[in-house]
Amino acid sequence: MKSAGFGKLKRVPAVNGGMDRKGNFMTKPKIFVTRFIPEKGMEMLRRTADVEVWRDPLPPPYSILLKRVRGMDALLCLLTDKIDGKLMDAMGPQGKVISQMAVGLDNVDIPAATARGIPVGNTPGILTDTTADFAWALLMAAARRVVESDRFTRAGKWETWGPIDFLGPDITGATLGIIGFGRIGQGMARRARGFDMRVLYFDKERRLDAEQNCGAQYVDLDTLLRESDFVSLHTDLSQETRRFMNDARLKEMKRSAILINTSRGAVVDPEALYRALSSGRIAYAALDVTEPEPIKPDDPLLTLDNIIVTPHIASASIATRGRMAVMAAENLIAGLRGERLPNCANPEVYGQPDLIRL
Ligand code: DGY
Repeated sequence: MKSAGFGKLKRVPAVNGGMDRKGNFMTKPKIFVTRFIPEKGMEMLRRTADVEVWRDPLPPPYSILLKRVRGMDALLCLLTDKIDGKLMDAMGPQGKVISQMAVGLDNVDIPAATARGIPVGNTPGILTDTTADFAWALLMAAARRVVESDRFTRAGKWETWGPIDFLGPDITGATLGIIGFGRIGQGMARRARGFDMRVLYFDKERRLDAEQNCGAQYVDLDTLLRESDFVSLHTDLSQETRRFMNDARLKEMKRSAILINTSRGAVVDPEALYRALSSGRIAYAALDVTEPEPIKPDDPLLTLDNIIVTPHIASASIATRGRMAVMAAENLIAGLRGERLPNCANPEVYGQPDLIRL
């Protein structure tokens, strides 16, 4: 058994998936996948393990997931699954690894996984440009009222060229405010350069290198909200950022401002956003993520014309979803082999070798 370089590891007796001296599985490990993922990833999983897949297009209900993970050596999950300590315990002592096909992990109880010695994988880095492209598409579509005017055309309302119809703000030369200046936030800043925009950002800490590379200026949150024509959200969802865009912060924005959210729906207070959009307190919003998700068809936000809502598809390019599936499979297979995950969200787990499950 490979000790994978993290010290003397305690071996929990393998029910499935035990390995011989050459590092080959003696019996195929068992894994559960909570939905079909792109084929490249599925194929890697099938080559390694006995794979059970949840075949419905909708996610497995939590109560069913609890049963289906029993006896599994590994779980490949999505951001639509609630992965808590109870579910980890339901896997049993041979549950070695949880791999999520997403970068965000707010649905996974990371401390609970660490406490149980279970490494959790995710897929950072590879979806940066695809997501920033989509956030940019939302920015442009909102400013130039693309979705609204398409609805107008389809409804048979286009009767003439209208000199004052569908006016919107210019993007070129405007000010973009980015909240959360990680990889995707910086990707937005780089795109804004091509439009001669002034770029402001706010984050927990100043990021000098990135600032210079992207031509962005660090400002306090009040300044960003007051001066930006576009505010784009790129934070993780945490206790601090839940409902971050509330009444008070939306009121600080310009009346002409446009809010874009491709981070997590709960970063915006949906009732406050409805009040701001319906009263004209801000001009427009474009959301790829909502709270709750999916948004209910009778949600008041969907009655408004000055909002675009897409179904959490910012990373949905063919290549990127394929890469995410491969990365999720690589993490899972490494975990099954007792190796360090190439992308581990709780590396502290390797500091407690007595708990790691082999
Ligand atoms: C993620 O990875 O967290 C995105 O929200 C979906 O790609």
